Amino acid sequence: MGYLAIKNLSKSFQNNKVLDRINLDIEKGTFLSLLGPSGCGKTTTLRLIAGFERQDEGTINIGGNMIDRLPPYKRNIGLVFQNYALFPHMTVSQNIAYGLEQRNFTKGEIKKEVSKALEMVQLTGYENRKPRQLSGGQQQRVALARALVIKPSLLLLDESLSALDKKLRVDMQIELRQIQKNIGITTLFVTHDQEEAMTLSDQIAVMKDGKIIQIDTPQKIYEKPINTFVASFIGQSNFFYGKIKDHLQFELQNGQSFLLPHGDYSLNKGQDCIISIRPEKIRMDRNRPSHPHIQGKVKFITYVGNLSMYLIEALGLEIRVQNQNHNDGVPFEINDEIFLSWDSGNQSILFE
Ligand SMILES: Nc1ncnc2c1ncn2[C@@H]1O[C@H](COP(=O)(O)OP(=O)(O)O)[C@@H](O)[C@H]1O
Ligand SMILES: [Mg+2]
Repeated sequence: MGYLAIKNLSKSFQNNKVLDRINLDIEKGTFLSLLGPSGCGKTTTLRLIAGFERQDEGTINIGGNMIDRLPPYKRNIGLVFQNYALFPHMTVSQNIAYGLEQRNFTKGEIKKEVSKALEMVQLTGYENRKPRQLSGGQQQRVALARALVIKPSLLLLDESLSALDKKLRVDMQIELRQIQKNIGITTLFVTHDQEEAMTLSDQIAVMKDGKIIQIDTPQKIYEKPINTFVASFIGQSNFFYGKIKDHLQFELQNGQSFLLPHGDYSLNKGQDCIISIRPEKIRMDRNRPSHPHIQGKVKFITYVGNLSMYLIEALGLEIRVQNQNHNDGVPFEINDEIFLSWDSGNQSILFE
């Protein structure tokens, strides 16, 4: 059993099942993101772990201790929410000291710990400011210091960077990850932003409708998504719905067919399935390759500087291809006849 172990956690509000047997098992020091669309149950998961709600079923263990029946203040969990909820009438120091005072630390200890926490979030010198005298990013750092100063056994962050503008958010992501690594605290981070989850996490749990669909490293989630939901929620993908026939032939639902790249398809032959391939994994050639390929025509080009996105018309479908641009600009034009191909290692065969 890992450091944080959640088993079969379920929760309903009225008759609405909001969490449906959630399982998580992560090692100490892991940074795990709960990623999913709005309403999928991310906040509810955190609220159950923090003890603000009681689950209908399931158990929560931290470091081998069942914490299910403890009140929130005895769970030793650090929390940071999107609306930082700093006490507006208190100074930065008083905000950070609050949790220590509750725990009956001496004045001397409090002073020392607050000063260490401020140093950690690079806010030394801001002790006597009020929250309204701080920028959004600084308030966020105070909230983080306040959560960490009690030396929690688990840190929970709920969309805590979402209110910041893009540039500041990226800076804070890097800072958060550095602090988290330095102190080695196990962290659950809730976000609906796939890019944020990708850059920050050791592991991502992709959620949908109260269920965890896939837990993996960011790379596995991207390269080996287990279904079309994961493949399209994280990045973009082309989906070919159909059946694998003999001799690498893939028959699309629209009746057209093409040859798949060389590989072993024996397991999935004859079954309805979906071939998923990322736009950047598709090669685009002017000349007909000798390996299996799809013939198509460029319909639309979006120039993005270092890359271009192409919409290709082929097989009665629209296929997205992303290609690197080189020194001499965009290598293809609208209405160019082109040939698409990819390696079997880059595609996923999915069943939903
Ligand atoms: N206290 C509550 N009472 C009733 N329904 C709730 C309550 N809290 C959350 N929900 C519902 O549970 C679902 C999941 O909510 P939430 O966990 O906040 O999702 P997320 O954080 O992923 O956006 C939503 O449909 C929400 O309306
Ligand atoms: Mg939420």
